[in-house]
Amino acid sequence: MQLVGAQQASDPMLSVRPFSPLSVVRSDSVRLHCIGCKSDLTTLPYHSLGQEHKPVECTHCLAKLTQHQGIWLALLECRQRYFARFMHDYELVREAEGRGSSDPEFYLSLPFQDRTGHNSWQWSIRSRTFRYFATRILSALEGRVSRPLTVLDLGAGNGWLSYRLAQLGHHPIAVDLQTSSFDGLGAAIHYQHSLPKLFPRFQAELDRLPFANGQFDCAIFNASFHYSENYDRTLAETIRCLRPGGTIVIADSPSYSREEVGLQMVEERRKGFQKSYGFASDSLHSREYLTRDRLLYLETRHNLEWVTYKPSYGIRWACRPTLAWARRRREPSQFRIYTAQVKTV
Ligand SMILES: C[S@@+](CC[C@H](N)C(=O)[O-])C[C@H]1O[C@@H](n2cnc3c(N)ncnc32)[C@H](O)[C@@H]1O
Repeated sequence: MQLVGAQQASDPMLSVRPFSPLSVVRSDSVRLHCIGCKSDLTTLPYHSLGQEHKPVECTHCLAKLTQHQGIWLALLECRQRYFARFMHDYELVREAEGRGSSDPEFYLSLPFQDRTGHNSWQWSIRSRTFRYFATRILSALEGRVSRPLTVLDLGAGNGWLSYRLAQLGHHPIAVDLQTSSFDGLGAAIHYQHSLPKLFPRFQAELDRLPFANGQFDCAIFNASFHYSENYDRTLAETIRCLRPGGTIVIADSPSYSREEVGLQMVEERRKGFQKSYGFASDSLHSREYLTRDRLLYLETRHNLEWVTYKPSYGIRWACRPTLAWARRRREPSQFRIYTAQVKTV
């Protein structure tokens, strides 16, 4: 595990290892894979995937991949049932938190401004992470190829990150369980008039992605990796879809120095939900946080080498650990950005 500190971070190339032949790969088509039988389905031009499209049938198991309002539905029926309670609870909580807006400008301003003012603090974290990612990490990836990068935005929510990547000329694909037009993939419709073509959106789960092996340059989990119920499985599925040399990015997931502190946070969070909403919001067995030990385990298990970046979130954020210590409170979460490249064989 390498740490890129504040001084080093000014040179993004310090964190990047010598590299594989990404530049010979095409980025204008996407190979789909059947989530039922896992055989290759078809290859479609990237830009046609974001548009209304007729269903695609698997020639092996005859399962059909269909769309609803432009969103590809790639979640198995049994898994829809599995996630139903989570999706219901999640939507309730997000609505109560004042997420989403009927104003299209709200979505177009993300992550830099929260025009509702309901979650400004969180969007200010997102915007700092995004700026750091774009200038220090993405720019290094861009330097290696002379074509758009193909990027999986995993747990994309309303798709703001895919929107920003598409604006930069890249080829993102937004993946999420939620299709709501307020806070899920449906909300991404607001970006369509600000882009030459809307990026593709897939309702799918992190652990069963509808994409064929070895084709994407980058997979980003922005504030979503800690929703995984099994980091090992989620990472294995991501690595399957990345090409050799492709990059995994985990951002805005809480990390703690020790397991006990993470467990304490989860307990406090559940009590808070129970008090505010009458349910603990724990229908998924999400892993909820990262620790150094958890990352080291994944590093060994998947033959990765994490590079840890420390974006600055301002002086108040930086003082949180000291204040918590002085007040004898639990250690606060840290947000780091972790990246790793899939090793070339
Ligand atoms: C906190 S939101 C982050 C959204 C967005 N990436 C952002 O930065 O604002 C986490 C997202 O992960 C999605 N999610 C959680 N578990 C998932 C799973 N197993 N498969 C796909 N998406 C999942 C949720 O539906 C939610 O939209």
